[in-house]
Amino acid sequence: MLEQPESRRAYDVAWVLTTPAHEQLAAGLVESMRKHVPRVDLHVLPIQDPSDYEQIFHAVAPLCRGIPEEAEVTTVLSAGTPQMQTIWVVLVKSGLLRARMVKVIPPAFVPRPHPRAITEVTLDIEGFPEIRALREEVVQLRARERARGEIIGSSPPIQALLRRLARVATAHVPVLVTGETGTGKDLVARAIHQASTRASGPFLAENCGALPEGTLASELFGHERGAFTGATGRRRGLFELAHDGTLFLDEIGEISPRVQVGLLRILERGELRRVGGEAEVKVDVRVVAATHRDLGRMVREGTFREDLYYRLKGAELAVPPLRVRIGDLETLVVHFLDQASSRRPMPTRAAWRALQRYPWPGNVRELRAEVARWTVFCEERVDLDDLSVEIRSAPKADAVRRRLETHTLQSRQLDDRPRSFADVMGDLERQVVGAALARNDQNLARTARELAIDRNTLKRKLRAWGMYP
Ligand SMILES: Nc1ncnc2c1ncn2[C@@H]1O[C@H](COP(=O)(O)OP(=O)(O)OP(=O)(O)O)[C@@H](O)[C@H]1O
Ligand SMILES: [Mg+2]
Repeated sequence: MLEQPESRRAYDVAWVLTTPAHEQLAAGLVESMRKHVPRVDLHVLPIQDPSDYEQIFHAVAPLCRGIPEEAEVTTVLSAGTPQMQTIWVVLVKSGLLRARMVKVIPPAFVPRPHPRAITEVTLDIEGFPEIRALREEVVQLRARERARGEIIGSSPPIQALLRRLARVATAHVPVLVTGETGTGKDLVARAIHQASTRASGPFLAENCGALPEGTLASELFGHERGAFTGATGRRRGLFELAHDGTLFLDEIGEISPRVQVGLLRILERGELRRVGGEAEVKVDVRVVAATHRDLGRMVREGTFREDLYYRLKGAELAVPPLRVRIGDLETLVVHFLDQASSRRPMPTRAAWRALQRYPWPGNVRELRAEVARWTVFCEERVDLDDLSVEIRSAPKADAVRRRLETHTLQSRQLDDRPRSFADVMGDLERQVVGAALARNDQNLARTARELAIDRNTLKRKLRAWGMYP
């Protein structure tokens, strides 16, 4: 193929992309290419299923971002699965990858050198798939790619959260992030900004619970000179500074009625009034608010404005507590060990079991603190005795059922997409299993017998739902 006239064009670097299953084969190709190109790199992408668009995209997109702006890139469309080829076209046509595309007639088909074995693909040719239809798909995939941010975990509840996060991020509505303390609401707020079309604009955050009323108002909306004693000049507030970007209002449940009014004006009319001022100032800011309080209840009790509540709740993201995604425990532990120190004491089996049983009321923040403690007090192993006393002594009973119930609830809350038959059946399945477990005192063997399924099948199901280690 490289003997063709077209291929005499000199390349400095060639990348061969492959999947773990085809690494050997690709290594052979790399060898033969090294005769023609000074540098050939082999990239083994984490793709298990090369017919899955999403897997391919998530593996290839970060790679594309690593290509320098000024590089002249050619992609060869003729290799890989049809889905792989389509992704190249999508990447190029959506501007994520600046490259020319060529297709190659495989050497096996051209016994003698073919005058045009390599041709450029311009997509103007007749019969090429309609790309415009794919644009929205690309925006979504890209958002999903960024939506992860620093959020660790791959349990079903986290996957559902990330899916929804990506969709919500690209919509132009305020977002209310709810969830217990320490579940990662801050991370989610940042990820929303990163995955939105405002990613290149500013991201500012304010903890509304930390400031007295007067200070918060002028912090958010700014003030005019002389607005209050000490206001010696005009000052722009966070809303003006966050123009074209995102403002994250943490602990939104704590704001006073006066600040609520100011906020409502911005959300309804895109205008603000500085403290002590009359003029309306136009701002374009995406508001992401978070709270661990029950705002709906505050509305019913009359301490939070109903109209503001519904405005803020343009979309709601409920961040799942750690106990319903206990399958992520190990990844999180390893992540925090990596962050904390070079010492990596690992929990023993008994310790793991206790960690998995514990309901984690302080969620990921509590886990992080726990892991940090091990790095100080443990050498290589973390024994049962090394765990905090409340973790060590968490009661065994009911743990699985509690997770199961919360999980079913969560997955309903998190997923408002049109639901497939399989999805609905999955929910039903979880409920049936949950009830059977309760009847059998969480005993897996008896539960399996009652449901007339294999015990391993039951375990596999629980594990798939992130509820069994
Ligand atoms: N999924 C996650 N992956 C990695 N780290 C996480 C995750 N969730 C939370 N953390 C970490 O746990 C800690 C607490 O998270 P964060 O501050 O976002 O919680 P929060 O929901 O805002 O809590 P609060 O309601 O108390 O403000 C942070 O150090 C954060 O980095
Ligand atoms: Mg927070």
